[in-house]
Amino acid sequence: MEEKRKITLMEVGPRDGFQNICSFIPTEIKLKAIDLLVDAGLKKIMITSFVSPKAIPQMQDASEIAKACVEKYPDLELSALVPNMRGVQNAAAAGLRHLTMVISASKSHNLANVRRTPEESLADLASILEAFPQIDFTLDLATAFACPFEGETPLDRVRYMVSAARDLGIRRIDLCDTVGMAYPSQVRSYLGALMEEYPEIEFMVHIHDTRNMGMVNTLAAIECGINTVQATAGGLGGCPFAPGASGNTASEDLIYMLNKMGYDTGVDFDKLLEAARFIHEHVDGNYSGHHLNIKKT
Ligand code: COA
Ligand code: ZN
Repeated sequence: MEEKRKITLMEVGPRDGFQNICSFIPTEIKLKAIDLLVDAGLKKIMITSFVSPKAIPQMQDASEIAKACVEKYPDLELSALVPNMRGVQNAAAAGLRHLTMVISASKSHNLANVRRTPEESLADLASILEAFPQIDFTLDLATAFACPFEGETPLDRVRYMVSAARDLGIRRIDLCDTVGMAYPSQVRSYLGALMEEYPEIEFMVHIHDTRNMGMVNTLAAIECGINTVQATAGGLGGCPFAPGASGNTASEDLIYMLNKMGYDTGVDFDKLLEAARFIHEHVDGNYSGHHLNIKKT
């Protein structure tokens, strides 16, 4: 029998989904949501971000969340987003071993998001990698396909950022369609070129569904050979510093499709939908997930 191809869903709802919600979500609701996601079979979860509480007050309980999850789920790949050295120090102190540094390919978005030029952030990344050799770092390359301020990101600009990160020692890069402006032929041509030119890098994708391109773009990436894709339960999500950004591809919609298509995701669709419903019930936000609209039978 032919072996099924394995696709890993990295759930980023507790970070990307929650960061855009203004009213504070109680820590125990966040932790319960993570429990349900784990129960559905997810092995890689981005649980929070260690950013300035002035920039994103929602993430002020990052240390508490991280400590609780590390203790409860020592065998899972729990990660958090970090924008600078301070974030890495706090995340490491909370016990996390997998961190994702966010840098945008476009200058305007990096300035809006972290108040640095991409080059300044790359210099920060160099110091961080030197100071924390024990931590496994991924680069979240925001606006890798398009920027809300500058339009489509030229492939050469993406190459420039990928080369710079590779030269610093980064081996995992997450190409982020921050405001959901990418389209399947662009995903195919960018990934086709990058995967061929940088065989030493493991690429992932982080796709927003702003323009209803979430599923087709994610599928295009998988058909290019990408094995890890990010999504959020319920399709909650968006960057508060990217005008027009809205939800990610919904994890449960994606798992429905991938499981039906015969990919091995290791995720239980019904349990994942339960997790999405729990979040939907407890967190007031904009959800792009389609299964949430189907009445329970
Ligand atoms: N975690 C917690 N606090 C932090 C921090 C971090 N990672 N980085 C900086 N701070 C604190 C500083 O200690 C300082 O506090 P103080 O005013 O009490 O002294 C304050 O934040 C400002 O620090 P500064 O270094 O001047 O940062 P800044 O104001 O230039 O902001 C960032 C830069 C990166 C910290 C901020 O823009 C940020 O957190 N952005 C994240 C955006 C984000 O999460 N976007 C969505 C995800 S893509
Ligand atoms: Zn995002």
